[in-house]
Amino acid sequence: MDRYDLALIGFGGVNRALAELIRDRGERLRSELGFDLRIVAITDLRLGSLMQADGIDVAQVLAMRAGESFAGLVGGDAEARNEYVIRNSTADIVVEATFTNPLDGQPAVSHVTWALESGKHVTTTNKGPIALAGAGLKSLAAEYGVRFEYEGSVLSGTPILRFAKQQLAGAGLTAVEGILNGTSNYVLGRMEAGLSLADAVAEAQGLGYAEADPTADIEGSDVQLKVVILANELLGANLTTADVERVGISVVSAEDIVAAATQGKRWKLIGSARRLPDGTVTGRVAPVAVAADHPLQGISGATNAVKFETELLGDVTVSGPGAGRVETAYALLSDIIAIDSSVRSGLVATSAV
Ligand code: HSE
Repeated sequence: MDRYDLALIGFGGVNRALAELIRDRGERLRSELGFDLRIVAITDLRLGSLMQADGIDVAQVLAMRAGESFAGLVGGDAEARNEYVIRNSTADIVVEATFTNPLDGQPAVSHVTWALESGKHVTTTNKGPIALAGAGLKSLAAEYGVRFEYEGSVLSGTPILRFAKQQLAGAGLTAVEGILNGTSNYVLGRMEAGLSLADAVAEAQGLGYAEADPTADIEGSDVQLKVVILANELLGANLTTADVERVGISVVSAEDIVAAATQGKRWKLIGSARRLPDGTVTGRVAPVAVAADHPLQGISGATNAVKFETELLGDVTVSGPGAGRVETAYALLSDIIAIDSSVRSGLVATSAV
């Protein structure tokens, strides 16, 4: 296979950044990775839908001015058009990066389902499909002989899931503990500098870190979904969000921050999943005042980090970006590379279309 055709579902910051990567680094990707990427369909709630078997002129789409819309397909509502494009485009890989409701995972769960049922590989940056519907979607992928990839669901492009599954295999992973939300970490840092919670959140929104509704960042439900993913993917658990106790950073006062500082500690919103001696796995989200010798204390700004506790290596900590359009677009690219590896090793077909 020397080319994969892509259908981009959602054309907000992330998929737009992927299109820019393909436009600007296509040659380099080809020489480094050995394949071309071609966009054959784009759909977006606000912009419309475009589908062309011979590929889309990405430069032309990216050059469109604000307010312009593209429409190659008319009729039906946005989701009907999404379903049509996902099922009927000639894409090998569906790239799902829509604004999705974190509580029910929709519309991303439907998009992934339609893609897999159509025999297409799928990559998504949304947490909902794997956190809320992971088991069913994995069975569907196995049934149709295609890949379902979601590296960007935790720590955006920083390769946490594949790293732990592949590079820590056999090391005896017992716990995962991390700063899994950039907004809350940024806000806590700004509160250390004297800002109020509200002012710090407004700053984080301005910088583009926060979710559309920052409550998910501040009250820990974004981290709760990520803990479910880490527990189930890396510790073999079968947790739901209801199993993960959640406390957000709104309980941390300015006085708490000063009191921690006098002891050399810093407040961090920690998401953790841990295998207990009886084999059960627990998950938790809560602010913790961490001491100077803790590997997560020095993680500042919107940076994320994960500490893996293992039997053979002790602690292994990885830090990196957890959000951002280019960083999250890289997660999609890393998923496409994983799909290509499976195709090349004969584990899956190019796609079943
Ligand atoms: N709002 C999230 C964060 C983005 O601040 O980390 C990625 O889930």
